Amino acid sequence: MTGLSDVQRRWLDHRFRAMDMGHPAAAALRAAVAGHLERGAPVVHGGWHEPEPSEIHGVPRLCNLVPEPCDSGPPPDIRQVVSTACIPPLPSVFHTLQSQLEDPAASPDDIAWTISMDPRLTASLLRLVNSPLFGLRVKVDTVSRAVAILGAKHISTLAAGTLLLGLFHERPPRAIDIDEFWRHSVACGLAARTLAICAGHTMPERHFVGGLLHDIGWLALCCGRPDLACAALRHSGRTGCALHEAEQHCFGFDHAGVAYALAQQWELPATIASAMRWHHQPPADAKGQPVFDAAVVHVADVIVHAMGYSVAADQFAPALEPYFWNAAEVPVESLDVVVRTVYAELELMVDLLQP
Ligand SMILES: [Fe+2]
Ligand SMILES: [Fe+2]
Repeated sequence: MTGLSDVQRRWLDHRFRAMDMGHPAAAALRAAVAGHLERGAPVVHGGWHEPEPSEIHGVPRLCNLVPEPCDSGPPPDIRQVVSTACIPPLPSVFHTLQSQLEDPAASPDDIAWTISMDPRLTASLLRLVNSPLFGLRVKVDTVSRAVAILGAKHISTLAAGTLLLGLFHERPPRAIDIDEFWRHSVACGLAARTLAICAGHTMPERHFVGGLLHDIGWLALCCGRPDLACAALRHSGRTGCALHEAEQHCFGFDHAGVAYALAQQWELPATIASAMRWHHQPPADAKGQPVFDAAVVHVADVIVHAMGYSVAADQFAPALEPYFWNAAEVPVESLDVVVRTVYAELELMVDLLQP
């Protein structure tokens, strides 16, 4: 790393402070990010600043700290937060698509017709399909052509992600920097999709949607209880703990639990719901459970945090879970491919996915 400046090196140290650098994937990820910084990739600050000597170093855990009151009355429950977040019902086109996907009698033409009935969704999907992300040599100008080229399942999955994100973009909550949140979500979707391709998975778009939606519970927390969401942000910033740990402190649950409640309310496929629920740590009874989707999103989340694309005060990369790393079945060399892809395609994707 001879080519890195002192500031770049300190920035990297900060981003990897929670990581076990003895793990080969953590070391390979740091080398990949450092290599791209040396070749001119930007230092994405994500709220980082040069630390003052008085600031806490290392990784303080919540249990080691004197609890700070969140002074907003008794903690709410998940259902209460989801209902006060006033999240609108899903558009009927979403449910029609889900039932057509499960109906063996539904043809690709039926699915294309359903999407075409929603002009805004059609426009978003065609922008996406014609982007360099898909590398198509011909311009696709109808949904039926997109379905013929990419397959009905892929198109429906992308449609689902576009519809769900559109729900939140209508009214960004006060406690959140929506651009930062949006960039983190899209970066995670891109990283998850690339990891799935590197692992030889046949449905990379499913992981793209899982990555896009993994932190949507944080948006619901910010809409439903902005006072407690701000308290969690302050707690995370002050103590250096991860945002989801600060949420546990202030709410009694975290955004992954809220995301899962939303996934059930929206009747999302079990694979995507599991990625939203378990992206921070595997379930206690993970052995033998199908956690591949959660594992891919977890690794993707770690990668994009390491690159600086964080949500709010969640500034440094969470520790890579060895169980998830093994479950994702990703070759270690693919980490450099993922980092390169996110740097190259993120800004384009952020624009394309704006509802
Ligand atoms: Fe998260
Ligand atoms: Fe995340």
